[in-house]
Amino acid sequence: MVTGGAGFIGSHLVERLVERGERVVVLDNFDPYYPEAAKRSNIERSLASGLVTLVTGDVRDAEALRAAITDHGVTRVVHLAARPGVRLSLEEPEPYLDINVSGTLNLLKACRDHGVRKVVFASSSSVYGGTSQPADEETTPCRPLSPYGASKVAGEALCSSFAASDGLDIVALRFFTVYGPRQRPDMAISRFTRMIAGGEEVPVYGDGTSQRDYTYVSDVIDGVVAAIDTPLRGYRVLNLGRGEPIVLRDLLNNLETEIGREARLRHLPEQPGDPRSTCADISRARAMLGYEPSVAAADGVRLYTQWYLEMNRDRIGSR
Ligand code: UGA
Repeated sequence: MVTGGAGFIGSHLVERLVERGERVVVLDNFDPYYPEAAKRSNIERSLASGLVTLVTGDVRDAEALRAAITDHGVTRVVHLAARPGVRLSLEEPEPYLDINVSGTLNLLKACRDHGVRKVVFASSSSVYGGTSQPADEETTPCRPLSPYGASKVAGEALCSSFAASDGLDIVALRFFTVYGPRQRPDMAISRFTRMIAGGEEVPVYGDGTSQRDYTYVSDVIDGVVAAIDTPLRGYRVLNLGRGEPIVLRDLLNNLETEIGREARLRHLPEQPGDPRSTCADISRARAMLGYEPSVAAADGVRLYTQWYLEMNRDRIGSR
């Protein structure tokens, strides 16, 4: 079962599992954080395979979780359902605790009580709070700068406790700014692309020197699938990044080149809660999962913009 399976990362994972011929239950509540139509379209192809069962349900609903697991004989769960959005979490923290922490607790209880022994939990680079050095799972402290990051630290802690007390095998994967086709519309690469292509002003937080370890979605899916397949006992936490941060203004330059249009920038103050820099040390994921990201930033940005321009050909062509 993939919770949040109609979302950006979830829909790519479901596609990959379907390609392998696996039966998948998608549990998604189609939360209106961004339009339901986008999420429906994300899973259209997978649903057509006949291998996917869509269950509309919420991870905060214990009965929905029980039914989804027991009705469909679920044995492994990838828990991606969450309230995303680092910056928004400072304005309105409550749903982050409700969905990301209580929802994760519910999910873990349902797994424990209904025979699921393997869980992969989607954590985040924002647990670290930003470091100038590559962050590693063992020695870099978790000092989140936002309620979103704090909710992911709490989710990890719950995973650790359920692995210890109930014998679940749980891998928490810390994703680093994942991008690619179908990226969430509030994230930088999708926002910037839409605005540059549409000739709108692009809001840039800070002076453009902040950095992110942008990671292409197919690389992240390789890591998630390896985490499902690899028999790791107990609780593990692993970074899934690329290990090569990109400066924001270089990202903007790449996007301008690929879209063939200059960006009109509007500089805004640095946002509280936003790390200045993120960078993953991926040696542990390499060693434990054989994880090896292969999509360089320039290629990933090209793949993303090609997808976007193709999807919006009629609209952009007529401007
Ligand atoms: C992203 C996701 O939104 C989180 O869900 C995820 O957990 C997190 O990555 C992670 O890797 O842990 P973020 O890194 O903030 O969070 O990703 P973006 O929203 O794409 O922002 C990337 C960069 O662009 C940041 O430096 C941000 O300040 C900047 N930005 C973003 C702008 O300058 N303008 C915008 O309008 C949006």
